[in-house]
Amino acid sequence: MMAPRPLTPADLPAAAAIHAAAFADETWGAEQLAALLAAPGTWGLAAEQAGSLAGFLLLRLAADEVEVLTLAVAPAARRRGLAATLLRTGLAQALALGATRGFLEVGADNPAALALYRASGWRCVGRRPKYYRRGADALLMRLDLVGPEQPLLA
Ligand SMILES: CC(C)(COP(=O)(O)OP(=O)(O)OC[C@H]1O[C@@H](n2cnc3c(N)ncnc32)[C@H](O)[C@@H]1OP(=O)(O)O)[C@@H](O)C(=O)NCCC(=O)NCCS
Repeated sequence: MMAPRPLTPADLPAAAAIHAAAFADETWGAEQLAALLAAPGTWGLAAEQAGSLAGFLLLRLAADEVEVLTLAVAPAARRRGLAATLLRTGLAQALALGATRGFLEVGADNPAALALYRASGWRCVGRRPKYYRRGADALLMRLDLVGPEQPLLA
């Protein structure tokens, strides 16, 4: 697998298609992704397979907290470690920029993402009832980027 590279505006139509395939009821179009990517503190990482965008991650740093805004891998490219690699690379960048902890929201009805985040060291610290349009709860997860229990970014 190629190392992740920065996500650029030219990637956003393909990123929007991946997002639409990944999230049934909370789709972000290319314009929305472009606005996010242009916002202060926000950056993105791209994972390619066979020369095409296969997955992407958007992160936002505010003070010493990094938030996972979105993470999606094309259905045909899943279970090959792309998401784990995007997360590891992006969080290492966040750490280098001064982040000490990460936060994210994930659907309580999304076992694949929950398994990924738990395997990556994230812990559930809260629940937002009926957060998503489809009626599902969101789980709030946290990861400490510094400290003795953080071997993941080594
Ligand atoms: C969640 C998602 C990003 C995972 O992407 P991926 O590239 O397939 O994940 P990886 O291959 O890096 O998986 C790493 C680990 O996460 C866990 N995992 C990932 N997908 C899983 C699944 N469907 N079932 C169970 N565990 C899973 C496993 O522990 C996996 O390691 P393994 O393959 O060695 O068992 C992808 O399924 C996706 O895009 N889903 C829709 C969008 C989404 O839910 N995004 C995250 C919420 S913000």
